[in-house]
Amino acid sequence: MSLKDKVVVITGASKGIGRAIALRFAPEGARLALVARSASQIAELAEEIQSAGGTAVALPTDITSEEQVQALAERTEAELGPVDVLVNNAGIFLLRSLAETTLEEWEAVLNTNLRGAFLCCRAFLPSMMRRKTGRIINVSSSAARQGYAEQGAYCVSKHGLNGLSKVLALEAKPYGIRVNVVSPGGVLTDLSAGLRRSRGNVNESEWMTAEEVAEAVYYVATQEGAATTDELKLRRFASDPWRTD
Ligand SMILES: NC(=O)c1ccc[n+]([C@@H]2O[C@H](COP(=O)([O-])OP(=O)(O)OC[C@H]3O[C@@H](n4cnc5c(N)ncnc54)[C@H](OP(=O)(O)O)[C@@H]3O)[C@@H](O)[C@H]2O)c1
Repeated sequence: MSLKDKVVVITGASKGIGRAIALRFAPEGARLALVARSASQIAELAEEIQSAGGTAVALPTDITSEEQVQALAERTEAELGPVDVLVNNAGIFLLRSLAETTLEEWEAVLNTNLRGAFLCCRAFLPSMMRRKTGRIINVSSSAARQGYAEQGAYCVSKHGLNGLSKVLALEAKPYGIRVNVVSPGGVLTDLSAGLRRSRGNVNESEWMTAEEVAEAVYYVATQEGAATTDELKLRRFASDPWRTD
């Protein structure tokens, strides 16, 4: 599937993997809705894409808010037209043992990584279902399959996101809507900075780049025909084969 003229919503587009996805998709002719809370960062990215000849609008949104996500769906459709691809990428991380995790921290992680993705799916699905076409890509993690000490809330949120993706894939299939999960291990972004510090002197050249993950997201976004990818798992080449991180 070509992304030419496809309307694509990318959450968490202000930096890291989401920004890299936007910069990967824009030259393909996708018409992008850039979503994050940091209005200035997505506005600058939209300008950068526009000055390179692409199409992008910045739509500042907190994806944990039901009202804001509903408004996002309405504004996206008004400014760009019906959405073809939703990339649920926004996420936060917490490096804390379960015993030390406060309820506020737990809720922040679950509300962003799981509730936010649910709200976005629910807001954009009806139009995809009416048009019997669409694609939803959830950026999950190796933490969706494996437990990591001091990543309890994060692991739970990503296990939940994979559960959501499995059910959504079943419910969306009759409408011709494809649901894909892309699950990377360690990626060199702000999100993993605290984790990398806690592991001491990690060799950053052995960590995946946001651009490498964006390439995987591009692959599932454009895959068509009889084959599909339920979950595309990416691990660092430096890790042991068949490990997930
Ligand atoms: N980095 C890794 O090692 C790694 C590994 C596996 C999976 N992942 C997953 O990849 C995704 C992207 O992570 P990243 O590494 O690119 O992190 P990042 O650089 O910290 O970027 C996170 C993005 O999410 C946005 N965001 C956070 N809370 C939000 C909210 N409530 N509403 C709207 N946007 C929100 C942030 O923008 P604002 O702060 O401006 O809102 C930012 O654009 C996440 O789902 C993460 O779990 C990352």
